[in-house]
Amino acid sequence: MLCSNLIQVLGKKEKIDSKNFIISSGSDELIELIMKAYANPSDKILSVSPTFGMISFLAQVNGIKNLAVSQKLVKKESFAKYVLNEDQFLEEALRSKIIFIARPNNPDGSVVSESFIERLVSLPVLVVIDEAYIEFSDSQSLAKWVPNYENLVVLRTFSKAYGLGGLRVGYGIMPDEIRKVIVSIKQPYNVNIAGQKAAFAALSSPLVDQRITEMKKIREWFINQLIIVQNQYKNFWIHQSEACYVLLTFESPEIPKTLYEYLYSKGILVRYYSSSDMINNLRISIGLQENMVKVIDEIKLFLKGGN
Ligand SMILES: Cc1ncc(COP(=O)(O)O)c(C=O)c1O
Repeated sequence: MLCSNLIQVLGKKEKIDSKNFIISSGSDELIELIMKAYANPSDKILSVSPTFGMISFLAQVNGIKNLAVSQKLVKKESFAKYVLNEDQFLEEALRSKIIFIARPNNPDGSVVSESFIERLVSLPVLVVIDEAYIEFSDSQSLAKWVPNYENLVVLRTFSKAYGLGGLRVGYGIMPDEIRKVIVSIKQPYNVNIAGQKAAFAALSSPLVDQRITEMKKIREWFINQLIIVQNQYKNFWIHQSEACYVLLTFESPEIPKTLYEYLYSKGILVRYYSSSDMINNLRISIGLQENMVKVIDEIKLFLKGGN
């Protein structure tokens, strides 16, 4: 029920007391349980925009207001990045019950600075750092900060770097007081034995680190190729990513839509966004080197065709 074996191994790996861990049915489950436990319908939770869609979805289904502070899109040479007005966010944080920050962020793979998180956790608000993609990043996990704060929760998952998304195993690292509250409202049997065993095995597999190293190299290669294409066509910008995908922002919404359809017809599935704030973007996941060569070749063919 508490997945004690898995918790023991995770505790050793992270060098954090096992009483700070909770295993969940994916990290999504913990996002929802934290909202249920710590926010009432009259409360507001705070996030940024764009970010992981489940934050707004879970807030909505639980009748909680989600204020997503819009980040400004800044373009410079081949690159684009979302920039958060940190002071505005900190001000809103004072009027919020829970803050959710994905670090690295989905969809752009950006990582907010440690100094900004330090300012957030000094406020009287619960801060949840979602580290679903941290293994792909050169930034340090903030899990080791948990023992020093009463209001910091770090979420991790076996769905991304460990490739076990379909088995639904996530975990949270949090103060014991918060853990007890979450355990008291959590379904006890929804992390199944298959998922626990797979997670346990994955933690001791050298393949995981090997794949992460390969993925980072392929990501760098892919971004360099994109820069070459960008210099020729100049109708899109590349987001520097610390996750396992790269977000592209195009100059108009027609290009990502037709490029998405074109790539789909070639058997390449990328993430298309229909929401108005993301309509100019496409997110491309990093796959095997030979797959990414095909992706770049097809993007070039598409752009050469005059789109
Ligand atoms: C930022 C972020 N957090 C959490 C999750 C959910 O992961 P899990 O499969 O552990 O529920 C995702 C999945 O896409 C994600 O992008």
